[in-house]
Parts: sequence; structure tokens; C-alpha cells
Amino acid sequence: MYEFKYKNNELWCEDVRLQDVASEYGTPLYVYNKQSVIDHCRHIENAFEGVDHLSCFAVKANANVEILKIIADEGIGSDVGSAGELYLSLKAGFPPSKITFSGVGKRADEIEYALDTDILSFNGESVEEIDLIQRIASTKQKIARILLRVNFDIEAGTHRYITTGRKHNKFGIDKSKAKEILLNAAKLSHIEVLGIHTHIGSQITDKETFISAAKSVVSMVDELRSVGIPVHHVNFGGGFGVQYQDFISHPQLPVENADSTEFTTVELIEAALPILKQTGCKILIQPGRSIIAHPGILITKVLYRKVTDEKIFIITDAGMNDLLRPSLYKSYHQIIPLNFESVQIEIVDVVGPLCETGDFFAIDRNLPFVKSDDYLAIMCAGAYGYVLSSNYNGRPRPAEMLVDGYETSLIRKREKIEML
Ligand code: LLP
Repeated sequence: MYEFKYKNNELWCEDVRLQDVASEYGTPLYVYNKQSVIDHCRHIENAFEGVDHLSCFAVKANANVEILKIIADEGIGSDVGSAGELYLSLKAGFPPSKITFSGVGKRADEIEYALDTDILSFNGESVEEIDLIQRIASTKQKIARILLRVNFDIEAGTHRYITTGRKHNKFGIDKSKAKEILLNAAKLSHIEVLGIHTHIGSQITDKETFISAAKSVVSMVDELRSVGIPVHHVNFGGGFGVQYQDFISHPQLPVENADSTEFTTVELIEAALPILKQTGCKILIQPGRSIIAHPGILITKVLYRKVTDEKIFIITDAGMNDLLRPSLYKSYHQIIPLNFESVQIEIVDVVGPLCETGDFFAIDRNLPFVKSDDYLAIMCAGAYGYVLSSNYNGRPRPAEMLVDGYETSLIRKREKIEML
């Protein structure tokens, strides 16, 4: 799974020396490894062996069509949150029968588009939305399949911006209302109720949280069946946390604090699966990060070292517009040099060039000594990396490239300032 490796003090991705890639394609540059994407898909699929299931990649985590094609080729489906993501999924070759549509604010035109393409199902989020889906489906003389997203009020123990399963969050229907709403939905002429959906948050690293969500799903399915509501599908969402710290080790790299992630994605899935299986339903999941975080990195060049009385700032050519996660969620990404020249470790802030104090990748981080023109890799940046990039501060978005064995290909061109 770990295709990024040091060989003779230089970082490689499979048979490609990343220093060469950085010089050829320029920086900032997202680099993905095809084999790693495949491996992550297969690990998840193997965890479900013998179980009637469908994994739908959450396109919001990474929407590059070439990445989506790799995932579609693995037989996995997609979960979309907008017409744009549906368009990209179809372009990448996901069959509509493996596409689900999530999100609290689906517009009428998006519902129409999804019905026209005959996707597998909508994850319904509100009574008004289900009514609108019914009206549009009836006009089109189509049947819309829905799963009701239930909010079980479960604390996911993750950053509050990415917790979705608490009562005060905008997502889903309160568990006490689900029965009544589904009873009504099941009577609608152009709605077919398939079952229930839940997604309690992202970067959840604790087995117990998934176990408790799975138990809530099972008792809800029992409750719904007891009043005659057909439940054939349960969608358990995504949220499986991944390791960010100490991802790559090298004798000269400082050891990072033990990561809070004790379990692999497969272990987290395996904790919930025996419980979910009690429903006898087809089990759907919507993993995003657990497929694409590890296979992607962001390479950036050191522009300057700036030493003040208080700090050593390593100023890079990538900024918060290229990778927003540290600024938005104080997310931790391991940062490592592409080449080791020095054994000296120093405490630095790694910051971008934008006019924002929040434009940083690491604060007070132990890092091997680096100087201008050295390259750094920001690890585990494949999920919620490029998709959250922007043109803030008049900065063109970075390029994306793919490594497959010894081959490299540009999968998204760097924007030019004329495109701003
Ligand atoms: N399903 C639904 C309905 C979702 O809203 C999400 C993510 C997923 C699946 C996939 O979750 P995952 O397996 O990737 O955890 N930008 C944040 C993460 C936001 C997650 C939004 N929803 C970050 O960079 O940490």
C-alpha cells in the first residue's frame, strides 16, 4: 500500500524519482499513485467478501476524472453530492445503477438530471425534498428510489466541522421522526423506499463509534419493519479515518506523535459489519478519504527561509488555496523532504505565500533542515486536497499527475494566470 518510499535518501513513487517529477511538471503539484488507489479499493472490497454490498466512492473527496476512472474500473460505485459530481461520475464510467446521490440541498434540476440518468438511489434528507423528488418523478413518469438519511445523534469524536450525526447538525432526519416520514414516503406513487442511510462524520478513528452507529441502524431497521416499512438496503456512509502522522518513516525523520488512528479502514469496517449483517439487507458504504487520502501527496518548493527572533518560517510555493485542510481544520499532514542533505532537525513553521496568518501547513514542527529550492512533500493529501483548492489571492490552481509504475501522466493541467 505504501508506494511512496525513500531510496538512498530520495523519495520515490514506485519507479519514479519525485525530484524529477517536480522539476518536469513544476510545483505546487499533486501526485497520485495508481496502484495505491487500486490497492485501497481492493482492501475495502475484500473486507466485504461474501456480503451483498456496494461501495460508492464519495466523489467529493477527489473529483479528478482520471482518478475516478481507476476507481470505476475496480467495480466500485460513486456517491455524488451535486450535478457536477454526477456528470463527472458518468464521464468516468460509473454505471448509473451504482450511483447514489447525497446532500441536504439537492436542486430541482439536479434531481431531474439524476432521474434522467436513472441512478440507483437518492439519500433523502428532508420531507420537503422527498416531496419534490416525488413531484419531479411523477412528471417524468419515473420511480425514484430513496433511502432516508437518519440522524442518530451520535458523537463521532472528530473535528466539529466534519461531524454530521449530531442532533444539532443539518444532516438527516431525527431518529424519532424516521418511522412516520418513511410510512408517508412509502405511500407516494413515484417513490420506492429502499431503506435507510446514515453518515455520522469524517475522519472517525474509533471502532466504538462505528459499532454504536451500526447498532442504531439495526434497531431502526427492526422498528421500521415492525410497522411494515420495507427495508432492503442500509447505507452506512463513509467516515473511516486514516493515518496522517508517521506515515513515512526514515532514520533521519523525526518520529511524530503516535497517531490517534489505531485502526485501519478494514478494521473499522470489520467492527461494524457483523452488526449490520443482522439486518439481512444489502449494505452500502460511501468511503472517500479511506480510498484516496494515502495515494496522493502535494509537492511544494521552498521559496525562502525566514528566521525571526521567535520562529524559523519555511515559506513554500504552495498555500492554503492549494491545500486548505490545515487552515480549515488544523489538520495534521506529515511533511517530508524529497531529498535528505542534512541530518539537522529544527523546529519550524511551514507556511504558504498568501496574505493570511491562517495560511500554514505546520506550526512548530520538527523538520529536517531545508533551504530555498528544496522540495517538500505534504503527505496523505489525496482526499479533500485539490477539490478544496481555489484561486484565492489570484493564484492559479496546481497541476495533478499520476504515477503508474515508471510512467507519469499529467491528469490536470496547471492553471495559467490568463485563466483567472
Ligand atoms: N458520504 C457523505 C454523505 C459525506 O458527506 C461524506 C463526506 C462521505 C460520504 C465521505 O466521507 P469520508 O469517507 O471521506 O470521511 N473536507 C473534510 C471532510 C469533509 C467530509 C464531507 N463529507 C476534510 O478535509 O477533512
